[in-house]
Parts: sequence; structure tokens; C-alpha cells
Amino acid sequence: MRLAAVLLLLGVSLGLCAAQRDDPFFWLSSLRSRGYPVGSLQADNTGGECPAECDCPPTFPVAMYCDNRGVKTVPFVPSRMKYVYLQHNQITTVPDEAFANATNLVWLMMHENHISSVGKKAFAKMTSLDRLYLSNNNLTKVPVNLPTSLRDLRLNHNKIAKVPPNSFQGMDNLTILLLHDNAIQDVGVALKGLSSLTLLDISTNQLKKVPESLPEALHQLYLESNAIDSIPTNFLGSFTGLQYMRMAHNELTDKGIPPNTFNVSGLVELDLSFNKLERIPTVSTSLEHLYLQANQIKEFSLGSFCSVVDVMNFSKLRVLRLDGNEISLQDVPTDSALCLRMAAEVAL
Ligand SMILES: *[C@@H]1O[C@H](CO)[C@@H](O)[C@H](O)[C@H]1NC(C)=O
Ligand SMILES: *[C@@H]1O[C@H](CO)[C@@H](O)[C@H](O)[C@H]1NC(C)=O
Ligand SMILES: *[C@@H]1O[C@H](CO)[C@@H](O)[C@H](O)[C@H]1NC(C)=O
Ligand SMILES: *[C@@H]1O[C@H](CO)[C@@H](O)[C@H](O)[C@H]1NC(C)=O
Ligand SMILES: *[C@@H]1O[C@H](CO)[C@@H](O)[C@H](O)[C@H]1NC(C)=O
Repeated sequence: MRLAAVLLLLGVSLGLCAAQRDDPFFWLSSLRSRGYPVGSLQADNTGGECPAECDCPPTFPVAMYCDNRGVKTVPFVPSRMKYVYLQHNQITTVPDEAFANATNLVWLMMHENHISSVGKKAFAKMTSLDRLYLSNNNLTKVPVNLPTSLRDLRLNHNKIAKVPPNSFQGMDNLTILLLHDNAIQDVGVALKGLSSLTLLDISTNQLKKVPESLPEALHQLYLESNAIDSIPTNFLGSFTGLQYMRMAHNELTDKGIPPNTFNVSGLVELDLSFNKLERIPTVSTSLEHLYLQANQIKEFSLGSFCSVVDVMNFSKLRVLRLDGNEISLQDVPTDSALCLRMAAEVAL
């Protein structure tokens, strides 16, 4: 499947390159007019022109590798390029015209740079962009005018504090959004309408409440290491396929969790460790991993994960972490074994 895709790309791009190769002045003149130092490009006889600081393998002429080279400014990206690797460099700004001709990009990797400013039009023309990695940079806000074609957008490990409401507008195909390790206090309604989003990571930020208007299609919701003290009523009921929910290292109390919040089928993993819970919340018998370590839980309430009416409807829990609480082995009722028969790991 993957091989077939690569072969197809090669076939398409070879046609393009042949035409460009025949006209060296085409490149020179257009570069001069754009103010690029012409000496930095090499014309070769194989894959087409390539900036001196990058590698453009003739066998894969739509890819440009400029990662790990101490690059300080975005090199010229020829219009044939689809995959551009610029990660792990010292780029500080992405000017409006940086990718003026790179309108065919599908992947753009710019993580691990020092980017603090991005031009309003820098990414605007990339109508086929699928992956944009800007993690581990110095951004203080979500860049504007990001392509709506994005499926995988990584903005983690920056200093983002502001997420304007229209940041992700129209990104109907966005599936992965990583915003963790930033300085976000509130995402407002920015995530509303992301109908394809399945993975959302906003952990290690400064959220005081669960973001409102979260996309219904989420499978994985990561909110750990924030300052969230409560969960809205019927919160999980608004998702159609949520399987993993991580809220470790927050300020959750029993009072902040409405009854039956987690008693919903479908959930596979629930991490509520390192909070301020005093009771084990009721979870569905279908849950497989429950992390509750390092809370202030004082009693082992079997009814929280087992049906007291129907013993045959036993818990599917495989991992139950309760260590670092105020309960010990003596507090566990003897009939727990019947209900927790699937559990391979129970830590007290
Ligand atoms: C950049 O794109 C413009 C418009 O498509 C074209 O006229 C120009 O020749 C291109 N320049 C380079 C260096 O590819
Ligand atoms: C990050 O940006 C700030 C200004 O917002 C600047 O003072 C600092 O030097 C930048 N750090 C890096 C590593 O570029
Ligand atoms: C989403 O993907 C579909 C199928 O590839 C495509 O037709 C559609 O234009 C894409 N939507 C956006 C907003 O790019
Ligand atoms: C959990 O939900 C089921 C219905 O989905 C219900 O039958 C059961 O009583 C609930 N458990 C508790 C402890 O409320
Ligand atoms: C077990 O109980 C849950 C509710 O807690 C219910 O949805 C499910 O159908 C029951 N399963 C069986 C096998 O009775």
C-alpha cells in the first residue's frame, strides 16, 4: 500500500522535473527576482535544483532534506516539492514569502527550531498540506491562515497562550491536534466543528476547566497536568467513540465529578491519578485500565466498578492502580476477586 503510493508520486513528479531541468535560466531568473542568493542553489542533472544546504535525492525528487544542518532561514523550496524536512535547525522566522512557490507541499516538518514569528500568509497557499509539524519552537500564538487541508497539526512544546476562535476553522479533515506543553489557559470555541478530530492533546497547559465544544469524534482526549477541578455534567455522553481519557495531575475533587460521569460504555482507559479524589468514581464494567494512584481515596467501594446485582456482569478491568491513597489490603472486600477476575495488575 505504502510502496504503491510512493511509486505513484515518483511517476507524477518525474514528468515535472524533466521540463524544469531543460531550462536552467528559469530558476536563476526567478530566484534573483525573489532576492535569493543564487549561489545557494545547485542545478543537477537528476532530481532538479536543490538549495546547497539541503539534499534532494534524485530517486525521490519531490522530497527535500534540510534537517540538522544549522540552517537559520528557510531555504528556497522549489515548487515541485511535496515533502520538506527542516526540523532541528535554528530558524527563527517564517516570512510571508518563505514558501511562495511551494504550493504543492504535503508534509512540512519544522519542529525543533526557534520559530517565534510566522507571517500571516506564510502557509496560506499550501492547499494540499497534510502534515505541519511546528512543535518545539518559540511560538506564542497559533499561526493564522493555516491550510484547511491539514490532517495532522503539531504545535506542542511552544509558548502558545492564545488560541483565536477561528484558528482551526474549516479543517474538516484534521485528525490529530497536538497542543501540549504550552501556556494555554482557555481554548474558547476554537475546537468546535473539527468533525474528524480523533486525537486531542492539551496536556501540560494552564486550563482551569474542561474545554467546551469538544469535537464529538474524539477517541483520545489528553488533559493531564492542567488545573481542572471539575467535569461538566454528562460530559462523556457528548462523544460517540471516546476510548482514552487522561486527566492525571489536575485538581479534581469528588464534588467536581457528577455521578455516573464515567459510567459510560466505550471507555477503555481512564487516568485520574494525582488528583484530590476521596472516593472511587463509578465506572462502566467495560473499562480496562483505571489509574487512581496518588489521590486521597479512603475506601475501596466495590460497587464503583462491579455490578452488585449481577455478579456475572463482572468488571473488565485489567489494570487498577490505587497506590498512594489512604486504603490498604485490609480494606478490600474478599468478594472482589470474583468481580475483578480480569485484573492482571492491582496496585494498592
Ligand atoms: C514561482 O511560481 C511562479 C508562479 O507560479 C512562477 O512564475 C515562478 O517561475 C516560480 N519560480 C520558481 C523559482 O519556481
Ligand atoms: C523566544 O522568543 C523570545 C521572545 O518572545 C526571545 O526573547 C527568546 O530569545 C526566544 N528564544 C529562542 C530560543 O529563540
Ligand atoms: C478532506 O478530504 C477530502 C477527501 O480527501 C477532500 O475531498 C476534501 O476537500 C478535504 N477537505 C478539506 C477542507 O481540505
Ligand atoms: C451504570 O450505568 C448502567 C447503565 O448504563 C446502570 O445500569 C448502572 O446502574 C450504573 N451504575 C451505577 C453505580 O449507577
Ligand atoms: C453489564 O452491565 C452494563 C451496565 O453496567 C450493561 O450495559 C451490559 O449490557 C451488561 N452486560 C451483560 C453481559 O449483562
